[in-house]
Amino acid sequence: MDLDELSSNLQALRERAVGAAASAPDTGALDELEVGVLGKKGELTAILRGIGALPAEDRPKVGGIANQVRAAVETALGTARQSLGGAELQARLAEETVDVTTPGRPIRRGSLHPIVETAREIADVFAQFGFVVYEGPEIEDDVTNFQMLNIPPDHPARDLWDTLYLDVEGRLLRTHTSPGQIRVMHQERPPIRALLPGRCFRYEAVDASHASEFFQVEGLMIDEGTSMADLKGLLDQFAHAMFGEDRPTRFRPGYYPFTEPSVAFDILCVICNGEKCPACSRTGWMTILGAGMVHPVVLRYGGIDPERFQGFAFGMGVERIANLRHHVVDLRAYMEDDLRFLGAFR
Ligand code: PHE
Repeated sequence: MDLDELSSNLQALRERAVGAAASAPDTGALDELEVGVLGKKGELTAILRGIGALPAEDRPKVGGIANQVRAAVETALGTARQSLGGAELQARLAEETVDVTTPGRPIRRGSLHPIVETAREIADVFAQFGFVVYEGPEIEDDVTNFQMLNIPPDHPARDLWDTLYLDVEGRLLRTHTSPGQIRVMHQERPPIRALLPGRCFRYEAVDASHASEFFQVEGLMIDEGTSMADLKGLLDQFAHAMFGEDRPTRFRPGYYPFTEPSVAFDILCVICNGEKCPACSRTGWMTILGAGMVHPVVLRYGGIDPERFQGFAFGMGVERIANLRHHVVDLRAYMEDDLRFLGAFR
C-alpha cells in the first residue's frame, strides 16, 4: 500500500460518508453512520492501519488527510443532524398538538337524595329546639311496634297499619317510627327531646301516594308540665320554618292509640292556598303530620311515671313533606333513581 492508494481510499471514504449523511432518512441512520465510519472499529481506523507500511516521511501527510476526512464527515453529520432533527421535532410537535382552548370535560357533582335532604332539614329545625336525633331498628318486635304503644294483638287499630311480618315469630318490619319512642324512654330519663328519623314498611299497593317503603320522622318530648300548647307552638314553628312564616296552620281532632288527645296537624294547601283544589281533596288544607299527648299507658310502658311527667309525640312522612316543598306529585319518583329527577333539588 503506498501513499497514493491510501489517500484515494481516504478520499473515497469521505465522499461516500458525506453522501450517506446527506441522504440519511433519520437521525438513527446518522448515529449508525458515525459509528461505522468514525468509531473505534470504523472504516477510517481500518484504513489508517495501512499507515504502518508507509515510509516515515509520508505518514504525517496521511495523518493530515485523515484529519480532513474526519472533519468533513463530522461537519456533514452535524448538518444532516440539524435538518433531520428539526424535521423530526416539527413532526412530533404537529402530531402532539394540544388545543388548550378546548373546553374541559365537566365533572358531574353529586347531590343528596331529596328524602335525605328533607329529613336533615326537618332535623335542623327541631335541633334548634334542643331535639337530639336517635335511631331505632327497621326490624322491630310486635311488642315495641304495637303492644307498648297501646295496640294489643287483637285491637282493631291494627288495621291502621298493614304490616309486613317476618318468618321469625314476633318480628316485623316497623310500620312507623313510633316504637322509637319506647326505645328512647327505656334509654333516657326525662327531660327527653328526641327525634327519630327512619325507614318504615307497610303492605301497600304502590301508587302515586302509597309505597311499601317510606320514611318518617318521629318526635318525642317528655318533661314535667309539658302541654298541648307546647306541642302546638312547636309545630307552628316547624311549619313556618318549612313552608314560610305566613303559612296558616290548624289542629284537627285525630285518633292514635298511643296519644290522647290525638290531632292531625294541617297547613293551608300549598297549591291553592285554601281555594279547595284537587291536590287538597277540595278541603283547602293538607295534613302534614299526626301528633298528640303521649298516652299515660305508653309512658308507663316506657318506665316513666305519668303522674309526674307528661309528653307529646308527633310523626310525619318525609316523602309527603318533600312533595309539598318541591311540588312533586308522585312519590314513586323518589325510588326510581332517575338522575334527572334526583339532581333537580340541589
Ligand atoms: N305513628 C303514626 C303513624 O304512623 C304517627 C304518629 C306519631 C301519630 C306520633 C301520633 C304521634 O301514622
